[in-house]
Amino acid sequence: MKTIFSGIQPSGTPTIGNYIGAMKQFIELQNEYNCYFCIVDEHAITVPQEPQKLRQQIRSLAALYLAVGLDPQKATIFIQSEVSAHAEAGWIIQCNTSIGELERMTQFKDKSQKNGRAGVSAGLLTYPPLMVGDIVLYNADLVPVGDDQKQHLELTRDFVERFNKRYAQKNQEILTMPEVKIAEQGSRIMSLQEPTKKMSKSDTNVKGFISMLDEPAVIRKKIRSAVTDSTGVIEYNKEEKPGITNLLNIYSAATGQTVEELVQAYEGKGYGDFKADLAEAVVALLEPIQVRYQELLASEELDMILDEGAENARLVANKTLQRMKNAVGLGRKVRR
Ligand code: AQP
Repeated sequence: MKTIFSGIQPSGTPTIGNYIGAMKQFIELQNEYNCYFCIVDEHAITVPQEPQKLRQQIRSLAALYLAVGLDPQKATIFIQSEVSAHAEAGWIIQCNTSIGELERMTQFKDKSQKNGRAGVSAGLLTYPPLMVGDIVLYNADLVPVGDDQKQHLELTRDFVERFNKRYAQKNQEILTMPEVKIAEQGSRIMSLQEPTKKMSKSDTNVKGFISMLDEPAVIRKKIRSAVTDSTGVIEYNKEEKPGITNLLNIYSAATGQTVEELVQAYEGKGYGDFKADLAEAVVALLEPIQVRYQELLASEELDMILDEGAENARLVANKTLQRMKNAVGLGRKVRR
């Protein structure tokens, strides 16, 4: 069985963008792959977080992983900071990555432009190596992510190639080369208010995203006020009609109908009808998840799953970490 790794930051409640771009793929893939799904809390602290809130968001994300249908019998579900190999591998990787590579990362460029270079944490520059570590520690063959993570995966692949070339002994590769897996549809869900900008859970404009825990009335209101255009024609056209195109992508992901089927079904109808039906489709998708989420959050089962997940993850991650340490010459050689 090939291996998959992916993670989500507990930097807020996941949005429908995180669901469509990432979680939905996780559920589909868990039957065919050896899976590791992580709550990447160390990434979340690259920007300021309120400690109590962060703790809640970590548990909440774990409950959501299960509520959407991830099965702990099939996938290892765990919290990044509970597996110390991540931070250790991150350091080795940082020392084998150039500052130039990190300064080219769009996340760093965007956030440091917005807040000024001196005002952002050093972690915002150096977290991509931590992410490389997340992937390589589990020998992942495949990483299912949204479109915004492509650049990080390219960095990971460059790193693996460089590390293996530099440190491999007797041509034996140390780290597994991962492939990125981007969802065919919905890999980049856009903000409801600014449809040329990615939907993000940490957006300060809450009208821009649908959170997976939004109540039905809130979902209906947010979709009703989603920015579209003045033509009133339901068409798929990213450049000229980004708002309605984004809503078509959400509708398609929520119902399984293709965009073509939807465009045909709404021919001659207005945005009002379309938005009302879309809102009901999103409510129908999220309501059962929210019910399961509430049950899981109150259960002890959740902590048992996370304890077991961390234990399983440590076994694999520590082995890879030791291979990395041996390769670069850290400590005394440990034979396994
Ligand atoms: N808008 C999106 N459309 C499709 N996929 C998305 N993802 C994120 N936003 C969209 C995918 O969700 C996974 C988890 O992302 P993350 O939480 O690790 O970080 P992110 O990509 O930075 O997501 P956010 O919601 O924008 O978080 P904040 O606001 O904290 O920066 C990834 O696979 C990502 O591609």
